[in-house]
Amino acid sequence: MKQTPTQRADGSGPVRRDLAAEFRTTFGRSPEVGWSAPGRVNIIGEYMDLNESFVLPIAISLTTRTMAAARADRALVMRSFHSDAGDGPGPVVVPLDNAALPAGWAAYPASVALALEASGYPVPGADLLIDSDVPVGAGLSSSAALECSVAGALCTLAGLDLPPMDLARLARRAENDFVGVPCGIMDQAASMCCRDARALLLDTRDLAVQQVPFDLDAAGLGLLVVDTRVKHELGSSAYALRWEACQLAAKTLGVRALRDVPADQAEASLRSLAGVWDGEVLKRARHVLTEQARVLRVVDVLRAGHPAAMGPELFAGHASLRDDFEVSCAELDAVVEAAAGAGALGARMTGAGFGGSAIVLGERESLGAIEVAVRASFDDHGFAAPHCFPVTASAGAYRTL
Ligand code: GLA
Repeated sequence: MKQTPTQRADGSGPVRRDLAAEFRTTFGRSPEVGWSAPGRVNIIGEYMDLNESFVLPIAISLTTRTMAAARADRALVMRSFHSDAGDGPGPVVVPLDNAALPAGWAAYPASVALALEASGYPVPGADLLIDSDVPVGAGLSSSAALECSVAGALCTLAGLDLPPMDLARLARRAENDFVGVPCGIMDQAASMCCRDARALLLDTRDLAVQQVPFDLDAAGLGLLVVDTRVKHELGSSAYALRWEACQLAAKTLGVRALRDVPADQAEASLRSLAGVWDGEVLKRARHVLTEQARVLRVVDVLRAGHPAAMGPELFAGHASLRDDFEVSCAELDAVVEAAAGAGALGARMTGAGFGGSAIVLGERESLGAIEVAVRASFDDHGFAAPHCFPVTASAGAYRTL
């Protein structure tokens, strides 16, 4: 059933299937509920959710949609049009009372059901049909979009009306405790809580949320996503190592998390770390302390109505992720370098890195030329052609049926 979403003739976005009709064809009955949840790009604040600090993502208009109907038994019967399972023989069936998780995409919906139950929210067995236009492995949080759309659908089926941030926490629990992937709360919170034309300033310590104006169009600007289409296999082990280094630095400085180092003590704290640890721990901490300040400066310029002024912070954030946190790669660096050379106002990798996507901020009229320059650079480097598409700050998850 694997298919690539097709663009509309005017290029404005993916043509979406009539999922309710597909549900009737697949399961021979009508869906009872439907949910849609978006992917995200993080504007600034990378790896900050591992340090109980601030992140600033936007939701994008690419979404994952789930339609569902309750079953009388305790099974999840799932089918996806957007799977890594290819043309499987039929739906994946997971008995809810048998802890063995399926491989591949179906582990995510099954984990959501298990996380809900483990958190004291019993869910019924269900038929689930899933479709998505969030590319997998592009660093745009396809997993969070899948988890959040399924969490919404299963909760609605169970008659639960949980606040969006509670659903985000449950979705993260599914990923951490059941799929077994370490991650912070940013992606799920973005998918659940973002709003149109707003960036989500999330304090990942107390989960307080502020909606920050993010209307680039009104300022004559645009944001381009460049999906490098590479995923270097360092993934979760490198992620876990970064997390450990941050915790080690915090412990050494006598704070609960690096977030607790006040801006005016950042320099002195880094000097004291340098005396104890090798350069690696120091560099990881330096990324976190400088990134924290960058997030707050970006929020200030957005609130002041000067979105173009966030550009230099994006470039600086990329340099910090490349040189200090060491999570970039040649393809992501090539995007940023080519974009800068072609007049972009700012550019950086977004998400966990080691491949995936970069974002480029530019004057609306110059984005076309920037894209051409990025493509030419990829060609020169012998990299496969990237996927480039504009994004705007879009709505978070919502019930569709
Ligand atoms: C991944 C994780 C997030 C966050 C980012 C890095 O997307 O899922 O929780 O840590 O990496 O900012």
